[in-house]
Parts: sequence; C-alpha cells; structure tokens
Amino acid sequence: MFDTLNDPVGSLIVDAAERHVPVLLAEVLDFLEPARGGLFVDCTLGMGGHAEALLDASPSVVVIGMDRDAESLNLARERLSRFGDRFTAVHADYRGIAEVLSERAPGRGAAGVLADLGVSSHQLNEAERGFAFSKEAPLDMRMDRSTGDTAADLVAQLDEEELAHIIYIYGEETRSRRIARAICRERQREPIATTTRLAEIVARASGIPRHKQRIHPATKTFQALRIAVNSELDKLDDFLRDAVDVLAPGAGWR
Ligand SMILES: C[S@@+](CC[C@H](N)C(=O)[O-])C[C@H]1O[C@@H](n2cnc3c(N)ncnc32)[C@H](O)[C@@H]1O
Repeated sequence: MFDTLNDPVGSLIVDAAERHVPVLLAEVLDFLEPARGGLFVDCTLGMGGHAEALLDASPSVVVIGMDRDAESLNLARERLSRFGDRFTAVHADYRGIAEVLSERAPGRGAAGVLADLGVSSHQLNEAERGFAFSKEAPLDMRMDRSTGDTAADLVAQLDEEELAHIIYIYGEETRSRRIARAICRERQREPIATTTRLAEIVARASGIPRHKQRIHPATKTFQALRIAVNSELDKLDDFLRDAVDVLAPGAGWR
C-alpha cells in the first residue's frame, strides 16, 4: 500500500489518537485472515496498529514486526507488550525479510506478510525528524537515523542535474529544473540545513502564485528527497520475491 507516499508533509496534522489508526485495517484483516492463526510478518511495523489487530484476531497468531526506524519500533514494542512472546520486534530493513525469518523462526513459513509502505504519521509529526516543513527542524528525513546520508547531505552534495532528476522522478515535480537550480544557487550562499529554509527556497523557485497553490509548493520536493534519502524504491522487486518465498505452502490463496 502506497497510502502515505503523497502525504502533504507540510499540512498534515494528526493528533495522538489518530496516529494509532492504521490505514485500510478492515481490508488488511479481510485479506490476511488472521483468525486462522499462524505466523504473520509485519514488514513496516510503524506504531504497531496493524500488528495489534492481527494479534487481537486470535491467540494463536504470532507476529514478527520489522521496521528500520528504532524509535517507532520502541513505541510499538511498548504498545504490544501485552502480547508477550507472541510478538517480536526486529530493527531491520524489510528487504532482509528472508534473513530475519530464518533467524527468528527457522523452518517456519509465514501465514501472511504485510507491507504498508511509506512514511508514518508519527515520523511526519515528530518535527525534529525533518520530514515535514511545517516546523523548523534539521533537514534529516532518515527513517533509520543510525545510518546513511540525510536530506541535508543530498541537498549539499548532489549536482544540479542529479537533484532535478530526483525531484522530477520521485516527486513528479514538473518545475524540478528551476527548483534544482535555486537549491544549487542558495547553497553557495549558506548550507541548506533546515526544513523551513529548503521549503522557502523551493516555494520561491516554483513561482506558483499563492492563490493557485493547492498544496504547499515544496510538498513534491520533500517527498522526492525522502524517497531518495531512504532508497524507498530500490530493490522492491527483490523484496516482493522474498516475501512470497517466506510464505508457508498454501498461504495467501483463498
Ligand atoms: C506507513 S508506516 C506503517 C504504519 C503501520 N502499519 C501502523 O499500523 O502503524 C511505514 C513504516 O515503514 C517503515 N519503513 C519504511 N521503509 C522501510 C524499510 N525499507 N524497511 C523497514 N521498515 C521500513 C517506516 O519507518 C514506517 O514506520
């Protein structure tokens, strides 16, 4: 599910209660049929909403929840502690699903695998993570803050053509060239280190009059940088193949 891929990162306001409402929950339960029991892998645990519903569906459900975001993992671990050893949280990229399963449940096939791709509302709402431009924060955007380049690194290091390409391909931003040009010009004056500074540069460069702005003019650029920072679209085909391979015989067919 690419439900959150097009989040209007500047304007999304989700209160604490809403954070815990997982998307398409009825559809997920209908499709995965957890009432039959078994081992389920939630590859994008987030705040643990889907995992909780799977675990609640039957006492014979066991869930391995994976996320590359250690903070989300801790929050989900706390939320799901009442399930005891029926729930295991693993700090890992879902592209490592085969290794995680062979370590945590050797020889056991999964009854179902869930991937709810994208950024979580928790990540968007924590200003200091740098995903949103509604508040000033360091331009980070890494889902796994223990590794890799930040958005500020990309904005500082990529050349104009590379930036334009990323903004166009991952953001579907038709004004990508002029935005990339403005970023390269402005970073010479002073490094672009915060969300709000980048948003201002993009808004000015986009040249869209305020009354014609349906979304904030920096929304697509922020989405593009987030996808690039987290390599969100890399090796998805390998992941899908591995996700099918870890299924138990007969799983997934109704
Ligand atoms: C849309 S949220 C999932 C929300 C979750 N289903 C819930 O009910 O709260 C997506 C989550 O996937 C995680 N994520 C994104 N890419 C990932 C990857 N390659 N490996 C593991 N987790 C990833 C993000 O850190 C985020 O927590």
